[in-house]
Amino acid sequence: MENPVVVDLGFGAAPNTTLELAERLQSTRPNTRVIGIEIDPARVDSAKPFETDTVSFRHGGFEIPNDGPVDVVRAFNVLRQYNEPEVAGIWSTVLSRLSPGGLFIDGTCDEIGRVSTWVALSPEGPESFTVSLRLTQLDTPSIAAERLVKALIHHNVEGENIHRFFTDLDRLWATNAGLGAFSPVQRWVASVRGMKDRGWPVHGTQARWRLGELTVDWDAVAPQR
Ligand SMILES: C[S@@+](CC[C@H](N)C(=O)[O-])C[C@H]1O[C@@H](n2cnc3c(N)ncnc32)[C@H](O)[C@@H]1O
Repeated sequence: MENPVVVDLGFGAAPNTTLELAERLQSTRPNTRVIGIEIDPARVDSAKPFETDTVSFRHGGFEIPNDGPVDVVRAFNVLRQYNEPEVAGIWSTVLSRLSPGGLFIDGTCDEIGRVSTWVALSPEGPESFTVSLRLTQLDTPSIAAERLVKALIHHNVEGENIHRFFTDLDRLWATNAGLGAFSPVQRWVASVRGMKDRGWPVHGTQARWRLGELTVDWDAVAPQR
């Protein structure tokens, strides 16, 4: 990807998330082009004055209005407005617009981004599921169940993988409570390690876990029925 194209799909009432994403990418990949896309034309109009050499805003939806394929699509708090049976079709529409090796992030978070979950998809389909939490004053990790992606939110019930995931994680968080006296980060890292020891297909290393993240294979949490 020489000049990556990154899409912030459904950027919302203000262009803040798109501009922030562009600013962050600027430091690691200065040649990245960022496109904010919105289904609401009035929102596009009010974002237009914020366009720069590398950031533009367009009217459109999951079909991603762009001449060529795009490398990354981030859609945060967008699919939750749709019904679960629509998710598979939405995923496949967006995936059909990705370049080889591209990435689609379908995520949800609370208003200030302290509780978040997302699914990462490659052009072949869903690859992983992530929970990301602000660890300070975290009561139980299953708080993230309230912010589950649409594909999982109706499946957090006894007998389903995602329910077992949160049950195990809450138990480990409770078991490691003593470490919280040192830091919630140590408590979290020990809990993530515990998930791995129990056989959950945990991704990454401690460097990532320390951020309050836990990523597992999608198949381990995917709905069973
Ligand atoms: C809750 S806001 C999320 C804003 C921002 N992404 C965030 O997380 O703060 C959802 C936005 O998605 C837009 N939206 C809904 N369906 C869409 C679609 N199919 N394509 C593009 N935008 C869409 C809505 O108009 C709304 O502005």
